[in-house]
Amino acid sequence: MDGRYGMPAHRVSLFGTELWDQLTEEQRITLSVHEVCSIARVGLWFEIILMQMLLRYAYDRDPRSQHIQYALTEIADECRHSIMFAKMTERYGVPDYKPRWYTQQSGRLFKTIASGAAMFAGTLVAEEITDQLQREGMKDDTVQPLTRMVSKIHVTEEARHVRYAREELARLVPTLNKAEITVGRSLTALSAFRIATNLIHPDVYLSVGLDPKVASKVAKANPHHQETIRWTARKLVPFLREQDMIGGPSEVLWRKAHLL
Ligand SMILES: [Fe+2]
Ligand SMILES: [Fe+2]
Repeated sequence: MDGRYGMPAHRVSLFGTELWDQLTEEQRITLSVHEVCSIARVGLWFEIILMQMLLRYAYDRDPRSQHIQYALTEIADECRHSIMFAKMTERYGVPDYKPRWYTQQSGRLFKTIASGAAMFAGTLVAEEITDQLQREGMKDDTVQPLTRMVSKIHVTEEARHVRYAREELARLVPTLNKAEITVGRSLTALSAFRIATNLIHPDVYLSVGLDPKVASKVAKANPHHQETIRWTARKLVPFLREQDMIGGPSEVLWRKAHLL
């Protein structure tokens, strides 16, 4: 592992806790590699959701339009990203940290029904959270070259996806009625909650001999980790508020996930 981390040490979920202090340098590196793969796995999970939503969107529309050609291009981008994340995980020799059952099932429902504002806002949540982490990691020379290369490619290609999703959302929101805004906010809050609370799969702690239940509990209560989650959403939250996609009763989910 050449003494470098899978992701910046201060972004690892246990950083700053007593459990962290008890780990050797080698164990900290191992955990960081498992955590970066777990985060990439959530990215991959959402990319598959997004590919299906974009395919459904293109299905009924005119493929001669620039709009639909762009949707098809984005599907191709996400497909390559998913392969890249999968290969990175394989190279690191890390298990498949597939999201847990309930998240997997709620994703299945979301990708089958979500469209319009919920689709674009949900996409922004997944893209901007991973983007924040990758932007920082790609510049950090304490981080493994493999993570840095994957992050750099992903950040570069996601820039136009983020721009597209932001523009589409800003175009759509003014056409929505009150009920549609409420549905959009609720589905977005649910996606945000699922994404943020699944970034670190509990089984990552097995890689350093910790009990997943105990260590997850410590990570969840770790103020440093909570601050990291908030930091990943620092550009996302003001934009979604501006677009009326955060607010009302579903805002509680954003708080529960430490995104606000
Ligand atoms: Fe992607
Ligand atoms: Fe994307």
